[in-house]
Amino acid sequence: MSLDVKPLDKFGAEIAGIDISQKLDASVVDAIRAAIDIHGVLVFRNAAPLSDSQQIAFAGGFGPLQHLSMIKMLGGGATRLDHTELIDVSNLDETGKIVGADDRRRHFHDANLLWHTDVSFDANRAVYSILSARILPPAGGDTDFADMRGAYAALTDKRKAELDGLEVEHSIWYSRALGGFTAVSEDEMATRPPARHGLVSANPRTGTKALYLASHASHIIGWPEDESRALLDELIDYATEDRFFYGHVWQPGDVVMWDNQTTMHRATEFDSLTHVRDMRRVTTLEREMVR
Ligand code: OGA
Ligand code: MN
Repeated sequence: MSLDVKPLDKFGAEIAGIDISQKLDASVVDAIRAAIDIHGVLVFRNAAPLSDSQQIAFAGGFGPLQHLSMIKMLGGGATRLDHTELIDVSNLDETGKIVGADDRRRHFHDANLLWHTDVSFDANRAVYSILSARILPPAGGDTDFADMRGAYAALTDKRKAELDGLEVEHSIWYSRALGGFTAVSEDEMATRPPARHGLVSANPRTGTKALYLASHASHIIGWPEDESRALLDELIDYATEDRFFYGHVWQPGDVVMWDNQTTMHRATEFDSLTHVRDMRRVTTLEREMVR
């Protein structure tokens, strides 16, 4: 099996020639890793959606997996999906019904509409996210991506020097509040303390640098609040300009894999009170998760 890599217009690539529902040779896994180091976002168009165990097996080839904890807590302990490695990004409750207008899970997910990268609020960052489309709404519900490596590369050397070395605090509660999710208890907050990361992040394999930003980014360490907010907002606006943008319009069966350390993404609106959108994510982490 050889990997057929077709670069998309600005960044990202469509991958053909392999069947990711099957166990992959180590050489194919290495080729996918090399492709994502170059392209940031990989689109696999599959004839049929992967099963849960196929999706988990595919992701497991790339690193230690995240196990869910938040959705379970918010749903009062109940989850729709059987595997803890599957992050439920659907609009469905544990019984498979569309979550109500007032359900906390709906408001929690609303923050996905903001530009972010997964798990930047944890010291153990996400590396790859692998998102599988199982049921799609008739309109909307696309996923947008921004090329944070391209955005960094396009900065002047002076600007790069100003940004290199800055440290940013990320908190899930910061992005959730922006998304309108504020009813959170002290105990829930205590489960996810904030984390600090460099504003510029280097790919550990290639050394290529990227801006590392997200809606979770609350402030720059040591900076006055207004200047810190202004710089973070300016950089997020800049990095999501059209020249660094890819909007993925889903087809049933698609799997999209992205590098969280070189891209940002956001969900787009759809009529989520009427239509089902069943998306399932598996995420690799830098290190084994402590559970
Ligand atoms: C995610 C996410 C966006 C979407 O799964 O991490 O942000 O379009 N998803 O569902
Ligand atoms: Mn996400």
